[in-house]
Amino acid sequence: MTIVREPVTCLVDPFAGRMSGHSGRYEKRLSDLAGVYENAGAHEALVKSLNDPVVYSVEDFRPGTHSGDLNYGVTRMNPGRVDREFFLTRGHIHAQADRPEIYYGQSGHGLMQLESPKGETRIVEITAQTICYVPPYWIHRSINIGETDLVMVFAYPSDSGQNYSIIEKSNGMRHRVMKSGNGWELVDNACYNPRTGEEVADLMKNNS
Ligand SMILES: [Fe+2]
Repeated sequence: MTIVREPVTCLVDPFAGRMSGHSGRYEKRLSDLAGVYENAGAHEALVKSLNDPVVYSVEDFRPGTHSGDLNYGVTRMNPGRVDREFFLTRGHIHAQADRPEIYYGQSGHGLMQLESPKGETRIVEITAQTICYVPPYWIHRSINIGETDLVMVFAYPSDSGQNYSIIEKSNGMRHRVMKSGNGWELVDNACYNPRTGEEVADLMKNNS
């Protein structure tokens, strides 16, 4: 039997990166990002010198689990760098790879790094009031290139799921975002291992 649920509202604090009424919360510490940054020694040293800080947190609301429903929430990331590489999220592709996502900038200055299954890179700059549409099939990760917390609201179909291992399998994303002067630049990831044609086809057939 179809259930008609009641509407829900949540209040977002655009600077603290908090959301009232959230049903879930998780945090990532700098040590959780081991293996993600190019300079592993600098990462290890920073974990020690900063006493392993929380580098990003997520508060979300998950109303259901089927494709016609939406999970949504707010994500907050500290500013900072490991050597020249900006603080970032681990990144993922949706386990149901044809599911999209929306990010809506609240405060701070960030980038969304997107990579197609074939390994093409796109960068979307996000500041307050920017909506970033992550189309189906793109691996995505957010990066804080500013001096303050980066806060974004997000929403994605409730049955999307997250596949984090896709980035581990290719030894990271094709490019790294590094500080350059007062801005940033894309640098090739020398360890990148492209997906095979078979792996790309496998990802692209993930429709349901
Ligand atoms: Fe996502």
